[in-house]
Amino acid sequence: MSEQVKKPVGITETVLRDAHQSLIATRMSTEQMLPIIDKMDKVGYHSVECWGGATFDASLRFLKEDPWDRLRKLRDGFKNTKLQMLLRGQNLLGYRHYADDVVEYFVQKSIANGIDIIRIFDALNDLRNLETSVKACVKEGGHAQIALAYTLGDAYTLDYWKDIAKRIEDMGANSICIKDMAGLLVPYKATELVTALKEATSLPIQLHTHYTSGVASMTYMKAVEAGCDVIDTAISPLALGTSQPATEVMVETFKGTPYDSGLDQNLLAEIADYFRPMREVWLESGLLNPKVMGVNIKTLLYQVPGGMLSNLVSQLKDAKAEDKYEQVLEEVPRVRKDFGEPPLVTPSSQIVGTQAVLNVLMGERYKMITKESKALLHGEYGQTVKPFNAEVQKKACGDEEPITCRPADKIEPELTKIEAEMAQYKQQDEDVLSYALFPQVAKEFFEYREAQQTKIDPSVADKKNGAYPV
Ligand code: CO
Repeated sequence: MSEQVKKPVGITETVLRDAHQSLIATRMSTEQMLPIIDKMDKVGYHSVECWGGATFDASLRFLKEDPWDRLRKLRDGFKNTKLQMLLRGQNLLGYRHYADDVVEYFVQKSIANGIDIIRIFDALNDLRNLETSVKACVKEGGHAQIALAYTLGDAYTLDYWKDIAKRIEDMGANSICIKDMAGLLVPYKATELVTALKEATSLPIQLHTHYTSGVASMTYMKAVEAGCDVIDTAISPLALGTSQPATEVMVETFKGTPYDSGLDQNLLAEIADYFRPMREVWLESGLLNPKVMGVNIKTLLYQVPGGMLSNLVSQLKDAKAEDKYEQVLEEVPRVRKDFGEPPLVTPSSQIVGTQAVLNVLMGERYKMITKESKALLHGEYGQTVKPFNAEVQKKACGDEEPITCRPADKIEPELTKIEAEMAQYKQQDEDVLSYALFPQVAKEFFEYREAQQTKIDPSVADKKNGAYPV
């Protein structure tokens, strides 16, 4: 080992995004983040993931914060560290496909407000859905990382992953991430996968997984030994369970090896000390449920992400049909197969899960088909790795011609229209994008913001035609 060339592993810290999204429903506020970022900035992380995913929605909806303002504050504080975000390709941070002009504008504004690295993925791994955002990111001088939604199934052979990696390199992306949202990648499979990807491409490889099934830190070790360049970890008070492996543990694991990250454990300990009392508060309030901290082996048995399992349970509870749980779990892979065997990640996980529940509850498969299932089978989300079950597709779409082009090609530019719709609320350019993504939630936030401003400065009310009582 000692004669090997040094190849320090990079560490992406997820505490400000995925870790709190996975454990406490994305409820960490900017105020809770700011006091520690000066220390975090001294660690020497490869990057800090701090934006995107559910953070945007949760900021507006629950925390009554402007997500753009959070990003600017983090940018001010992180003087030496790259800031990273997660983006769902043509869906941006929302749940539908947006027109290219909205996607381009969103990427431009994300980078202008402080993002360095954009991790972009598509639920179906349909690279056409990533073209616009990758191009925009590169144009704005950002680092475009394409994430592959990792999943298992007949279609997902090593050749499939190698081929897609080559295509990603051809698209002009700067790096590749294996995004294992369910914790399905087991250690020795990680060796195979990373080795294969390294053969196929010269792009840096990053691995993102969750601790859900209990194997994640071993998976990181095997992946790094096989050449993985960067891993995603969370500082220990927000690690494990449905979150990532602990930063300190991985740093210690590689210490003194060619993969030594060089990060300072004393500094990491101080950062952990900052978050630990918060964890206690979240545990006491019930925001952090000890249930999500255990090992959930069912995720490996059923190949279903942890979040999807809990969604199925709550849907069945609502329908007073909890006894159908096992039946639904057996139905999920069948629906997934009919739907072209997509990875199960937002939004495909919700689409497949809800349809599986309906199939079981109705006592007849596809007696009822959801709007979203129909859209998927109509090609509105893009192309799946395998063809749809023709019979099921026919049942859902009838004689409608399925979409086979890039779905966004069917969407007219929409930025001007959106801007006109929300003009009365606009206080900054970025507000247009908040509104484009979450119209109702953003509108409520804008009204709240205005009311707050009026409270602080009653003259604002005058400027707004005296709409607010003094
Ligand atoms: Co994740």
